[in-house]
Amino acid sequence: MKRKTRVGLLTSGGDCQGLNAAIRGVGKTLFQYVDNIEIFGMYDGYRGLIENDHQFMRPQDFSGIISTGGTILGTSRQPFIPGKAIVDKDGNDVMPSMLDTYNRLNLDCLVVLGGNGTQKSAKLLQDAGMNIITLPKTIDNDIYGTDETFGFQSAADIATNVIDYIHTTALAHSRIFMVEVMGRDAGWLTLYSGIAGGADVILIPEIPYDIQSIAQTIERRKRGGRTFSIIAVAEGAISKEDKVLSEEERRRVKDANPYSTISYQIAAQLKELTGQEARVTVPGHYQRGGQACPYDRVLATRFGVAAARLIMEQKYGYMVGIQEGNIVHVPLEEAASQTKFLPTDHPLIQTARDTGTGFGD
Ligand code: F6P
Repeated sequence: MKRKTRVGLLTSGGDCQGLNAAIRGVGKTLFQYVDNIEIFGMYDGYRGLIENDHQFMRPQDFSGIISTGGTILGTSRQPFIPGKAIVDKDGNDVMPSMLDTYNRLNLDCLVVLGGNGTQKSAKLLQDAGMNIITLPKTIDNDIYGTDETFGFQSAADIATNVIDYIHTTALAHSRIFMVEVMGRDAGWLTLYSGIAGGADVILIPEIPYDIQSIAQTIERRKRGGRTFSIIAVAEGAISKEDKVLSEEERRRVKDANPYSTISYQIAAQLKELTGQEARVTVPGHYQRGGQACPYDRVLATRFGVAAARLIMEQKYGYMVGIQEGNIVHVPLEEAASQTKFLPTDHPLIQTARDTGTGFGD
C-alpha cells in the first residue's frame, strides 16, 4: 500500500480575511486527489509547531469555513532574528523543537500561511531541512514576488467604508478628518482606500509629507467652497523632516512625541495652521476583521489549490503568488528577500494626482 502523505498546516502572524478560504482550498484539493492523505493543523501558528499542539484534520473540518473570518487554527506572532533564528520571548532558539514536531509527525511538507515576517521565518524552516510551501496573506499587500495578497481587498473595502462614513459627518461639521489606515511601512492599503473613498489628501510612508503643503491643500479647498477635508493617513506616514533623521534620532523624537499615533500629531498641527477643527478616526484591527470579500475568497482559494498541487508534485520551497493575473511559484528565498513597498512611480499615484488628490509633498 502506498505510504501516507502527511501535511502540516499553520497560519502565522497577524490574521486577515481569507485565511480560512485558503485553508479550505488546500484541504479540499488534497482530500479530493490524494489517497492516504493526513493533514495536521498546528494551533496558533508556530506555537503549535514548537509545542506539538495540533489537530488531526478531517475532510469535514474544511467545510463551511469559506465565509468565516479569522483563522480556524488560531495564529500568533513568533519572534525571529532575520536570516538567523526563530526564537522564544527569552531569545532561545526554538528550531530544535520545531524540527522535533516535524519529524515526529513524519511530515512530507509544512504549508505556512503568513505575511512578510512569516515568509522570512519560513525560509529559516526550509534552511533547517523542512519541506515548505507558503501562501501570502496580509492586509498590507507588501509581500515581494506577488502582485496581491489575500486580505488586502477585504481590508480596502472596510477602510473605504470608513472614509465614506466620515465624509458625511466631516461635511456636516466643516471639519478636517484624519482616517488612519493600517499597512505598517507600506502605503498600499491607504492608497487604494484613499482613492476609492475620495480622500482629499493621501499620506503614505513612501512619499514623506510636508505639513505646510497639506495645510495649503486644505486652504485651497476652503477658497473653492469646500469646508471639510478628508485625509487618509497611513499608520507609517512620515514627515520630510523625520525621514532624513538617523534611526536613533527618529527613536528619540518618537519617545518625546506626546501623540499616540501619527494622525493625532498631524491633526494638532493642522488645527494650529488652519484654525479649523480636526478629528481623528482610527479603525485599527476592524480592518482585519469579519468575512473576506468575494475577491479575496476567490484569490485565497486559488492560492490554496495551487499549494495543494505543489504538494502533489512534491515541489517544495515556494511561495504561491499571483503575477499579472496568473498563479506563480516564487522561490521562497526570493519572496523572503525584501518588502514590496509602493513604488513612487506607481500609476495609481498619478491617477490620484490627476483627480486632484494631494500627497502632502
Ligand atoms: O501586518 C498586518 C497588520 O495589521 C499591520 O497593518 C499592522 O501594523 C499590524 O499588523 C498590527 O499588528 P498587531 O495585530 O500585532 O497589533
